Amino acid sequence: MAQRELYPELPSTQDRALQLARQGAPDGSVVVARRQTRGRGRGTRRWESPDGGLYLSVVLAPSSPGPLFPLAVGAAIADALSLEYRVRLRLKWPNDLLAIDGGGTSRKLGGLLVDVVPRADGSSAAVVGIGVNARTPASRHSPAVRASSVGLEELAGAPVDLDRLESVVVQAAKGARSSLEESGGDRPVLARVRGLLYGVGEAVAVDGAGIGTLVGVRPDGALEVLGPDGPRIVLAGHLSLGAGR
Ligand code: BTN
Repeated sequence: MAQRELYPELPSTQDRALQLARQGAPDGSVVVARRQTRGRGRGTRRWESPDGGLYLSVVLAPSSPGPLFPLAVGAAIADALSLEYRVRLRLKWPNDLLAIDGGGTSRKLGGLLVDVVPRADGSSAAVVGIGVNARTPASRHSPAVRASSVGLEELAGAPVDLDRLESVVVQAAKGARSSLEESGGDRPVLARVRGLLYGVGEAVAVDGAGIGTLVGVRPDGALEVLGPDGPRIVLAGHLSLGAGR
């Protein structure tokens, strides 16, 4: 049966869940921590994880997710949070949940990370790590993160219960997997991802270099950008709005 581990503090829920996944943890097993000391973001980034945030990793097994999977999870979580907390969110490729204010300024509410590991039985497991700034007071973040992030309580204008938020987020992640597994499931998922995509029609930069105007997401999850020399496909990198440095 799926297990749930809850810690007051961990280096990283992702690392603990990866360990469990390799050891054959059942599908749906969840690791939660109230704070992390070495929270991991995408690539080599750190994820600041003070008290008040939601930090969890869920094991989906067996699972060998396709490239659309992280975006599908992001879209499912954005939709679930919108429904539960009446907030409007956008999805920044490939893994950020953003809130956009009336003046068009974006702030990051959360992010997700997907790792895939082999298991002893020859199958593989996906570990989905999710961080959401839930009740975290801005003062607990570093100045750089403080300026570019927002908490769910502030957005929703109401208290957020971390256990309830956990359940909403875990159900959404599992739901995204089920949707993609349905025959023809890619199509509605892709439509949802495209509907939530941040920055379409804007000039964008990848890893600091301006490359053109964001067109959308392809069925394989890659980003499509129209550059001065024609269409460009972006498989990985850090996206920002603007023409770059
Ligand atoms: C990103 O935006 O770069 C991804 C952030 C993912 C953070 C979560 S918090 C729970 C899980 N444990 C980690 O160490 N990282 C993920």
